Amino acid sequence: MNFLISGGTGFIGSALCTYLLRSNHKIVLKTRHPELVSGNMTGVNHLSDLGADDTFDVVINLTGEPIANKRWSEKQKEKIIQSRLDTTEDLIAFFKGAKKKPDLFISGSAIGFYGVHSTPGSENDAIGEDGLGDDSFSSRLCQQWEDVAQQSESLGIRTCLLRTGIVLGKKGGALSKMILPFKMGLGGKIGFGSQWMSWIHLDDLIGIIDYCIKQPNLSGPVNGTSPNPVTNAEFTTTLGKAVRRPTIFPMPAFVVKLLMGEMGEELLLAGKRVLPIKIQKAGFKFKYERLDTALLDIL
Ligand SMILES: NC(=O)c1ccc[n+]([C@@H]2O[C@H](COP(=O)([O-])OP(=O)(O)OC[C@H]3O[C@@H](n4cnc5c(N)ncnc54)[C@H](OP(=O)(O)O)[C@@H]3O)[C@@H](O)[C@H]2O)c1
Repeated sequence: MNFLISGGTGFIGSALCTYLLRSNHKIVLKTRHPELVSGNMTGVNHLSDLGADDTFDVVINLTGEPIANKRWSEKQKEKIIQSRLDTTEDLIAFFKGAKKKPDLFISGSAIGFYGVHSTPGSENDAIGEDGLGDDSFSSRLCQQWEDVAQQSESLGIRTCLLRTGIVLGKKGGALSKMILPFKMGLGGKIGFGSQWMSWIHLDDLIGIIDYCIKQPNLSGPVNGTSPNPVTNAEFTTTLGKAVRRPTIFPMPAFVVKLLMGEMGEELLLAGKRVLPIKIQKAGFKFKYERLDTALLDIL
């Protein structure tokens, strides 16, 4: 199959490309640095650089300024929003002009969609794909991002919105940011530790993307999280055990707020128990259902 992937150079995208190349798929990357693309892939900076013969079966959109790299100043928030909206709008314009439209568009989103005030979904306090958003920054970001992406549906393109949780993998992602203090024995829970962390192993997220490609009945929002979210306290203990270090240094909520402001409040202190209801109903089987086995594999 022919793939067009934006953000394919990133943490999730590069693992996805490695996976797809094993099955000899053809990949074009939309990237700010096409000169760095090598191997069996080609890169374009702008979609207008593509020729009339460049047609794609599947388009995957993973572009975005990292959400947790810098404090959320107004300027940084704008960068986070525009990096996603600009690329998604470009993709929609490309679809409109394409002679042959792709069969499937998978567009990135995040469980941030569900906001900071967890809205109960289909199962007890858990949030399924029917959960609602709120007016927090991360929720509004995902709502705007999904609104643009969804325009592909009216063009007759099957569209999946991948509401991704905290992705755990070997190189990069959330784990690489938190692992050092844990390895030094300086790790600990954040705030009261009762906030939920809806995590997923990178291999399973790639598996979900692959499942969306292979199951023509899947469309709309798809939660990319493991079936067993944990509280921050449980995450802390499990990570401590995985690196064989004590986890006795909690980070009080006021320190998080002081150091990271709104970003810390939304990403670290306000958790959500998000479940992968749609993909499990469709028959997807997770490789890593439990955090301890996922961390054992990664670390
Ligand atoms: N990792 C997670 O735990 C997680 C969780 C929830 C949602 N997500 C979402 O899933 C998508 C992929 O995640 P990821 O962790 O793989 O992302 P990533 O590695 O941080 O970045 C993905 C790509 O986005 C492009 N990019 C970065 N900053 C940009 C900017 N300012 N303007 C334009 N393009 C920019 C880069 O591609 P080029 O340099 O090639 O242009 C980069 O390789 C993101 O949109 C992210 O929000 C990730």
